[in-house]
Amino acid sequence: MPPRLPRDSPTPEHRLPIWVRYVLPVLTLLLAVVAGYSYHLNDGHSLATKDIFLNNILSADNGARVRRVLSRTPLIDGHNDLPYLLRIELQNKIYDRKVLAALRAGVLSHTDISLMRKGQMGGQFWSVYVGCPASESVGIDDATWAVRDTLEQIDVTKRFVASFPETFQLCTEAACIRRVFRHGKIASMIGIEGGHQVGNSLANIRQMYDLGARYITTTHNCDNAFGTAASTVAAGGDDIGATEFGKEHVHEMNRLGMLIDLSHVSHQTMRDILAMSTAPIMFSHSSSFAKHPHLRNVPDDILQLLVQNRGIIMVTFVPFFLTSTPSEASIHDVVEHILHIVSITGWDHVGLGSDFDGIDIVPQGLENVSKYPALLELLLENGASEEQIAKLAGENLIRVWEEAESVSRKMRNVLPGEGTWEGRTWERTDVGMPFLLEENKGKRIQGIGGAP
Ligand SMILES: *[C@@H]1O[C@H](CO)[C@@H](O)[C@H](O)[C@H]1NC(C)=O
Ligand SMILES: [Zn+2]
Repeated sequence: MPPRLPRDSPTPEHRLPIWVRYVLPVLTLLLAVVAGYSYHLNDGHSLATKDIFLNNILSADNGARVRRVLSRTPLIDGHNDLPYLLRIELQNKIYDRKVLAALRAGVLSHTDISLMRKGQMGGQFWSVYVGCPASESVGIDDATWAVRDTLEQIDVTKRFVASFPETFQLCTEAACIRRVFRHGKIASMIGIEGGHQVGNSLANIRQMYDLGARYITTTHNCDNAFGTAASTVAAGGDDIGATEFGKEHVHEMNRLGMLIDLSHVSHQTMRDILAMSTAPIMFSHSSSFAKHPHLRNVPDDILQLLVQNRGIIMVTFVPFFLTSTPSEASIHDVVEHILHIVSITGWDHVGLGSDFDGIDIVPQGLENVSKYPALLELLLENGASEEQIAKLAGENLIRVWEEAESVSRKMRNVLPGEGTWEGRTWERTDVGMPFLLEENKGKRIQGIGGAP
């Protein structure tokens, strides 16, 4: 039974004449204008149906539709390697006036502030990438410069962000993105690209969290204490998936509310971690394996697991992951990857993760960060709705991050993980130091260090 309306409220019947009298004439006028404009666009050819009318109007105005979407939803990219360029080209020295001017407007590479503004960007995960050890003789447990350089990459990213306070603001929680966006600025987040960069250590994960990093890619192009990399499998190695310690790392990442990034890991590692993570995961820069069978890409069955996990795949522009003829890759290949992924996952699990400044060639039509709107326009032309491209642009990422934060809140009484990799060497230097506990007295080990 419908609820009875209170006597003094106007019934729908009472409102109808007002609607008809005032709104209908305006709508009619509008349609007439639209029809005229559409007729003009079609060079005077007669139009078959009303749908064609509307389609023409809409496509003529896709730029405006994208602007409208991106005025409400921050466009967030999952992976940009500008900090890497700051390191390898400038050794992290950015305060030179010429450098700052170029970063404002005028780099030869893919990202500067004027290009970001042209690209209507609202948020960026800056990757603080440091490569895997160059030689396989460097073991997982060996000291490397990777953690030092990661700390320096975080430092230079923060100094870069702070150098342009009218443009950027560092964000370490999901709600910050919309807040910063409302002030017309670009939210800046930090992502770490591989477990080797945190020394394969849960304690270091926590320290990186405290420094503001909000995602860690489980592996880069080398196996580590957490699991197998895609590159290992591509080179003919076994795919053993995630390690036991890798599972502890998942628990710790969930507890912290730090996003797990499965770009770069092997397919079995993807499956293992998706099966364990209570929080949604991300692929910060990966595309579709069904469209192009590169092991860095995500197969359809794993995309289905991603839906169950409520996570996100941020589709990448890396030409080598788009097509077997990378030098001919174009914006249309990216559209095809997105539409294929959407055919498996729907629109709630996709995003954009360009890898700009981390690639030596770019797809035609996606030359730099100014081109995101062109990509969204193409998706509208291919039948996507404004609501759907809003999800792709940023709504999904914000939702995923919020859900990871909510999992973390539920785990707030769980103690930090104390697990360590089983291959880790521990020394107890035999220099006659006192022991803490009676039961350890027989366990003196000849170590390599000295007394403190
Ligand atoms: C950015 O891309 C556009 C083409 O889409 C190009 O015209 C422009 O020169 C590029 N800018 C830089 C700095 O590469
Ligand atoms: Zn990468």
